[in-house]
Amino acid sequence: MGERLYIGIDLGTYQSTIASSAGAMQTIETVVGKPKDPVARNMLGKDVLFGAEALSKKLACNIYRPMAAGVAQDDEANLAAAKAFVSHLIEVADPEDYDEVFGVICSPSHITFTDKSNLVATLRGQVNAIMVVSEPFATGFDHDQYMGAVVVDVGAGTTDVARLYGTFPNEDDEFTVAEAGDWLDLQLMDMIEKKYTGAQLTKDMVRAWKEEFSYVGGNDEECMVELSVEGKKNVVDVGDIIREGCEMLIPYIVGAIKAIIATADPEYQPQFRNNIILSGGGSMIEGIAEMVADQLADIGDVRVWCVDNPIESVASGALKLANVMPDDQYTAIN
Ligand SMILES: Nc1ncnc2c1ncn2[C@@H]1O[C@H](COP(=O)(O)OP(=O)(O)OP(=O)(O)O)[C@@H](O)[C@H]1O
Ligand SMILES: [Mg+2]
Repeated sequence: MGERLYIGIDLGTYQSTIASSAGAMQTIETVVGKPKDPVARNMLGKDVLFGAEALSKKLACNIYRPMAAGVAQDDEANLAAAKAFVSHLIEVADPEDYDEVFGVICSPSHITFTDKSNLVATLRGQVNAIMVVSEPFATGFDHDQYMGAVVVDVGAGTTDVARLYGTFPNEDDEFTVAEAGDWLDLQLMDMIEKKYTGAQLTKDMVRAWKEEFSYVGGNDEECMVELSVEGKKNVVDVGDIIREGCEMLIPYIVGAIKAIIATADPEYQPQFRNNIILSGGGSMIEGIAEMVADQLADIGDVRVWCVDNPIESVASGALKLANVMPDDQYTAIN
């Protein structure tokens, strides 16, 4: 048998990461742009753009976010965009240098079974065998914490929580809530529009402010941003809104953690309460672990901590799993 490459892929609603056994590690926004017309095609000099490059040319392109919640995965244009995106992501790992490629894949939890067969179709031809696992499990595995932990992945499309006790989690061990980063962006946008009547906002602007300033707890912090009101430049402080919006997300996270612990084997519950791990982009909200711990105080003493590599930990855990899993755990797809 020839040389085999292992890859771990975190296919995310907002951004995706690939890690390979040859040392590749790259994150790309899950965005595909196709030139709108021949003028745009001529200017851009290519038929398809990905990630940040696509976003920077968004007015000249039709923009697809093929993994976003609510995107019909059987829509031909989105499916083609998904395929192009996944191919582009895998190319980062130079698969053509190897005889075979084995991959562990995490895809957004809102992708249903029919969509998963599309996912397989998308990977076919580039990956020989795959294993699909959840984001919280991959993160727990990355940190050697799968023996007794609750992992909460606060992503863009969903917040996924799982209890881990040394085996693959089954359906009952995992739980998804719809309130996550994208939901928070909409709340913030709505609050800013109410306070600054006529403010001209896009979701991307609001998300960028959130990523720069996000925090919960303590006193209001100053967060100065520039926005247009009917074409006129305004510089305003959105610090109070950022805090209020971010704090609105916390009860959903806390509710999910309580539910997953309450339904666990009672002998394991103390261990779960003592090891609650936050990951995903949302775990970068300043002060989040303290506030989650405070709001969990009524279920007893808890320990809540954030991973230090929230953007890469899913792909890195998937790669770690890929390396150690026996071949019979993989499904051949070619
Ligand atoms: N500093 C930050 N503070 C708050 N939110 C942040 C910060 N940095 C990134 N985010 C948000 O985290 C989300 C992206 O996180 P992540 O990459 O884990 O999501 P994803 O994997 O693409 O989504 P999903 O797992 O739901 O498919 C986005 O909503 C992004 O705005
Ligand atoms: Mg994710």
